[in-house]
Amino acid sequence: MTLRTKFTFGALLLTEAALLTSMVVVLVVQRRQNLVRRNQESGVAVERFAEVCRDSVVGRYEIPVVNYMRALSEDPKVRYSLFVEKDGRVRLHSALFRGDRSMVGSFIGSERLADSKGLLRAENGERMLEWARPVNVDGVLFGFAIVGYSEGALDRELLDAMKATIARQALAAVPVSILALGGAFLLAWRLNRSIHDLSQTALRIGEGDLSVRTKADGKDELGSLGRVFNLMVERLQLLQEAREHMTAGLTHDLKAPLAAIHAHAQLLRAQEGDKLKPESQDSIDRILVSARRMALMAEDILDRARLREGGEIHIQRAEISIHPLIDEAVRLLKPAAQDKGLKIENAVDPSLPKAQWDPAMMTRVFVNLLSNAVKFTPRGGTITLKARAKGRGVEVSVSDTGRGIPAADLKHLFTRFMEVRDADGSRVAGSGTGLGLSICREIVAAHEGSIEARSEVSRGTTILIELPLEHEKSPADS
Ligand SMILES: Nc1ncnc2c1ncn2[C@@H]1O[C@H](COP(=O)(O)OP(=O)(O)OP(=O)(O)O)[C@@H](O)[C@H]1O
Ligand SMILES: [Mg+2]
Repeated sequence: MTLRTKFTFGALLLTEAALLTSMVVVLVVQRRQNLVRRNQESGVAVERFAEVCRDSVVGRYEIPVVNYMRALSEDPKVRYSLFVEKDGRVRLHSALFRGDRSMVGSFIGSERLADSKGLLRAENGERMLEWARPVNVDGVLFGFAIVGYSEGALDRELLDAMKATIARQALAAVPVSILALGGAFLLAWRLNRSIHDLSQTALRIGEGDLSVRTKADGKDELGSLGRVFNLMVERLQLLQEAREHMTAGLTHDLKAPLAAIHAHAQLLRAQEGDKLKPESQDSIDRILVSARRMALMAEDILDRARLREGGEIHIQRAEISIHPLIDEAVRLLKPAAQDKGLKIENAVDPSLPKAQWDPAMMTRVFVNLLSNAVKFTPRGGTITLKARAKGRGVEVSVSDTGRGIPAADLKHLFTRFMEVRDADGSRVAGSGTGLGLSICREIVAAHEGSIEARSEVSRGTTILIELPLEHEKSPADS
């Protein structure tokens, strides 16, 4: 379950629990109030009844009492009302309205004459709540006014009131729940977005891109987490820049002695070449090739540093033939391939048209790819180079029968400091700084081309490059 779903459901559950609690509280309070009101109303009605009875005794007329009893009987909760003299003789009974005169003049039990408030009794199997009030004439007890309410009818009235309240509250709960759900969803979405943004940024940083920053505009804890995170990345970037600066400085200083080694080896070869033994000649050749490779590596590192400082790989285009360019890369890597007993098959179509590329840069791309193929192909393997026309450009491929690259690493292959690990977590033998392929991608991109890798573990790897032959001049170039 995603964080967003959990949060939304959690908030909804809390809202519903709060609504339910408030509903229960409202119902309890309302029931209590209704009970008090019901007692007050019944008390007032029987009090008034006692007054009407007293007036009728003083004035010697019964009609108002009859009328009042009739009015009382219109209340569906009232089952009967009666006016009783103090000795228990019934003067008037609401049964009269049903044409039943038998009650008038009869006697009722003395316990019924008590001045009770809400006395409970059973009448014809129905539970009654009976209210009685004394009727005093000139301060002397004359009799009692009694009203009997049906307890069932009273409870039903309470229940109906509760049902109406529940219905009202449920109706109000619908929009509240929708609002709560919407609010929770929005909040969860916002939280989720910040966390997602943070994890994506962390992922990019893990891939070596320290230029990315996470959004840190909120004033809440997530906002401050984002700011702290960005600060951390900034410091990391500064550290990396300092490290690259130092490496670039050292590399730059290496270039002069390297050039000297190369120049002196060349001089030695030219002046003494014929006099030397074949093994010594071979050693000089190896010195020359190695010095050349080291110079290319130094260039890689310096280019990297230039890019880090916001510069671009500088492309100096020239009209060149592709075939000799690839031959040059093969020539450079041949000694290393021979050492490992690898076969290099150069199947580049010699009839390819000329291209407008930077020869030095493109040589470095092919050297990088070939050097990887040599490094990661075990003894006895084969490396194949192909180039063919494709549309308005060419497709160059460097394939090997080497160790291959796991699918999980393949998608990060062209990121800087890429490092493929063995199954046991150790570094793959032969891996270098992990810059080669990222530089290749940048050089190819500067030539408006694309690069991709296809690989199968233990079967081999193919790096495919597509490049336009011609450069479409942008206004900035002119
Ligand atoms: N042809 C290949 N076969 C198997 N693995 C490869 C191949 N090419 C590259 N890799 C893997 O990808 C990683 C990155 O390659 P990349 O050329 O960028 O760096 P590198 O060769 O390790 O170092 P550098 O090129 O900077 O000296 C390598 O370390 C290697 O593990
Ligand atoms: Mg490499």
